[in-house]
Amino acid sequence: MWLINSSIGRKFVMSITGIALVLFLLFHGTMNFVAILSPESYNAICHFLGANWYALVGTVGLALLVVLHFTFAFILTWQNYKARGRDRYDVASSRGEVSFASKNMFVLGVIIIGFMLLHLYNFWFKMQFVEIAHKMGGDIGDLSLATDGAYYISVLFANPVYCVIYLIWLGAIWYHLTHGVWSALHTLGLNNKIWFGRIKCIGNIVATLVVLLFVAVVLHFGGQAIMNGTTAYVW
Ligand code: HEM
Repeated sequence: MWLINSSIGRKFVMSITGIALVLFLLFHGTMNFVAILSPESYNAICHFLGANWYALVGTVGLALLVVLHFTFAFILTWQNYKARGRDRYDVASSRGEVSFASKNMFVLGVIIIGFMLLHLYNFWFKMQFVEIAHKMGGDIGDLSLATDGAYYISVLFANPVYCVIYLIWLGAIWYHLTHGVWSALHTLGLNNKIWFGRIKCIGNIVATLVVLLFVAVVLHFGGQAIMNGTTAYVW
């Protein structure tokens, strides 16, 4: 099948799954921003997106997107490496055309996934997973807090270490998205001279918007803990 066997097919899969993941991030970032405006409304959304069938379908779909995106990234990176070795960007980089992000997309991706496992432990494991476990008769975690996302956010970011960890993670995501959005739109056909600069600009705007939504939450709840004197180094 051309999607798997040809280089352009694999890039196409990377682009489609990448854009779907960016849309998830836009949704997730906007949803989290609600926690700043109204913790009650945020918890209502968490309740709506608990362990219901549609939320579970979304979770499985999301996991599939991440697996596809990562697997194809691995294959593409491996084939680039085999074809051209470590110096594959030498000609272009001497003309100053290759950014830090474009040279390090796979490494950035691995870092992002590493931090994401920690993030899933911080939230998903204590929320949706606890609900699923209880529905199946298990007794893990605190069910009364399973849809209290606002509580978990305020406790996590009351810890300055976690604020720094999340800001580093968001920095890696910003770099990854600036090149990723550009690359996806380029692969999907916006690759003429006029659009070359425009999609670079679109990539930067989308990456910055997505990341700022998350950064605002970290700074708001981290700052609130400092102002209220509730900073704590619990893990
Ligand atoms: C300030 C930053 C963030 C906060 C406060 C936050 C908050 C949350 C919360 C509360 C949940 C649990 C929802 C539930 O299970 O009901 C969650 C799940 C999740 N988050 Fe985040 N998140 C943040 C950043 C991110 C980022 C940057 C990514 C991806 C790179 C991400 C990916 C996910 C994923 C994949 C899930 C599981 C979704 C699912 O179960 O379908 N989050 N997040």
